[in-house]
Amino acid sequence: MFTITFLDLSAGMGLCATGLLTLNILIGMVLSTAYKRSVYWKKLPPKLREISMDDLHNWTAYLALFFVCLHPLFLLLDSGNQFSFRDIFWPLQAPKQPNMVLLGTLSFYALLIVIISSQKIIKQNISFRFWKNIHLISYGTALLFLIHGLQMDPELKDRPTDYLDAEKFFSEACILIVLIASFIRYRYHLQSQNKNRK
Ligand code: HEM
Repeated sequence: MFTITFLDLSAGMGLCATGLLTLNILIGMVLSTAYKRSVYWKKLPPKLREISMDDLHNWTAYLALFFVCLHPLFLLLDSGNQFSFRDIFWPLQAPKQPNMVLLGTLSFYALLIVIISSQKIIKQNISFRFWKNIHLISYGTALLFLIHGLQMDPELKDRPTDYLDAEKFFSEACILIVLIASFIRYRYHLQSQNKNRK
């Protein structure tokens, strides 16, 4: 009979967080441009244009954080592995793939820092430049959690990554999307720098 274990749920939460964080990064990139002046934005149906991109950006981050918290929690509830509470926050002695788990833990800390620094009370007390520099950590965070998700064995049996597996294909698609979007965003940055110089 087909049964769902806590380990399966943990992997599912990790995949949900990966999808949401990828979407969140894309929205963040759009927000950092003059998107409302773009022809593509103007062509969108009015109902879609009414959606606040700021709210969408905030809520995808909060929802992703929720899934990121559930992901190691389900791992602890799974009786078939030896992960301890300490391995979640300090995974250097984790029973399986400690280096890859460390990438996940670091992305969790980085996500927390970015979310906390974006709270009104903090934002009002730091300069825009400082806040933006903290926010730019998100590019590195994406790299960490995407490598983590791709390399972790969802069954924790030290198997090599099956790059054709559906879940791994999802992480690969997210990596491709983030890389292409970052390239487009960087080109936009260079173009606006050139315009400012003229
Ligand atoms: C931004 C944070 C994180 C994201 C987006 C993320 C995402 C993922 C993804 C996509 C997988 C592979 C699932 C699969 O292929 O079916 C995975 C596996 C795993 N992750 Fe994370 N992770 C994050 C943080 C963490 C943290 C903090 C830990 C701490 C222990 C952790 C531990 C694990 C472990 C042990 C696995 C293998 C078992 C499983 O699939 O649940 N991850 N993660």
